[in-house]
Amino acid sequence: MSDQFTAQDYQFMQRALDLAAKGVYTTTPNPAVGCVLVKNGEIVGEGFHFKAGQPHAERVALAQAGENAKGATAYVTLEPCSHYGRTPPCALGLIEAGVGKVIAAMQDPNPQVAGKGLKMIAEAGIESAVNLLSDSTEKLNKGFLKRMRKGTPLIQLKLAMSLDGRTAMASGESKWITGVASRADVQKMRAKSSALLSTSATVLADNPSLNVRWEDFPNDLKKEYVKEKVRQPVRVILDSQHRIQPSHKLFETDAPVWLVSSEARDLANFPDFCEQIILPKENLLSELMVELGKRQINSLWIEAGKNLAGSLIEQKLVDELILYIAPKLLGEKARGLCSLPLTQLSDAPLWQLDEIQQIGDDIKLLYTPKGS
Ligand SMILES: NC(=O)c1ccc[n+]([C@@H]2O[C@H](COP(=O)([O-])OP(=O)(O)OC[C@H]3O[C@@H](n4cnc5c(N)ncnc54)[C@H](OP(=O)(O)O)[C@@H]3O)[C@@H](O)[C@H]2O)c1
Ligand SMILES: [Zn+2]
Repeated sequence: MSDQFTAQDYQFMQRALDLAAKGVYTTTPNPAVGCVLVKNGEIVGEGFHFKAGQPHAERVALAQAGENAKGATAYVTLEPCSHYGRTPPCALGLIEAGVGKVIAAMQDPNPQVAGKGLKMIAEAGIESAVNLLSDSTEKLNKGFLKRMRKGTPLIQLKLAMSLDGRTAMASGESKWITGVASRADVQKMRAKSSALLSTSATVLADNPSLNVRWEDFPNDLKKEYVKEKVRQPVRVILDSQHRIQPSHKLFETDAPVWLVSSEARDLANFPDFCEQIILPKENLLSELMVELGKRQINSLWIEAGKNLAGSLIEQKLVDELILYIAPKLLGEKARGLCSLPLTQLSDAPLWQLDEIQQIGDDIKLLYTPKGS
């Protein structure tokens, strides 16, 4: 614990983080942010950002506090914004409400904000502090923060496999290797993602919907999200040979589908929500990530087969390797996890284990590239 902050500061910032977390399924392309206003040790207003176009966390908390905001301490999980976006700057809102102090969990790396929000607050003669529980807010907004810092989305490669690293029988039979609980977890991971990436090979083999089935969510989440008709992630499909057809199940969900190839095709028979991204063949995957960053995709969840998995790993594009491991052995004839052109052990890409979780009978592992 740093001397700069009291135990109470930690407690209220944790509350702000818990509130922020309620927005993780919905705020993209914006970050998930929470705010708590505290006066004489009591919370007088609190709120979180629900989705783009709706009020920011600070505005929700200020509205709730009314006159009580005067002299209060504002705990915000990200530096208050300083620019006129869809809403006027929150830094100004806090100043006008007469808060006595602002504590931000971290500075906002968004070039439009980056220190300017806290500067505005300081210039108005209001005390401020930064870097309280910043690790937690980093974790909550890792997609948004990666896009702001690097211009590309957080790239999460999901693979489901047996104990011996197999993904399907030799025949291609793969339904289901992992259990019901893992598949429900995948639904949640999809729901948190700005976009999903797959390939024509996977679509032709499995005809997946690649959507989020909100109706199947636990009741506490479902209420809010089904009522608000929250977003479906964008489906991005690599389709260099134009093999995707309007009859594929992808098109049964009314949410964007972006078909990626190097040559344009006629989309007249496709629904309006289908567009194409045309990119040169060379460096297609890395160029795609830049393009998705420009399109405000914070995080990209990848569900594909061993070829795309191998290409992404080889090109060092993967930020997180997420493995669901089922307690089954499929034997050496079954299909492998990723194609990598390796001949010696010393060339094997190395990973660092960051999280481990039991899900039903399966294990979920989260790895990041070693040395990143
Ligand atoms: N275990 C799992 O978690 C999991 C998840 C999903 C799917 N699957 C299984 O995976 C199987 C399909 O696997 P697969 O290996 O045949 O195909 P895949 O890896 O899904 O897709 C291969 C395709 O990806 C694109 N691609 C790969 N590398 C590329 C690069 N460097 N640049 C540009 N595009 C690139 C190309 O698409 P285009 O040629 O179309 O442009 C290529 O044909 C299915 O049977 C499915 O069931 C398993
Ligand atoms: Zn704001």
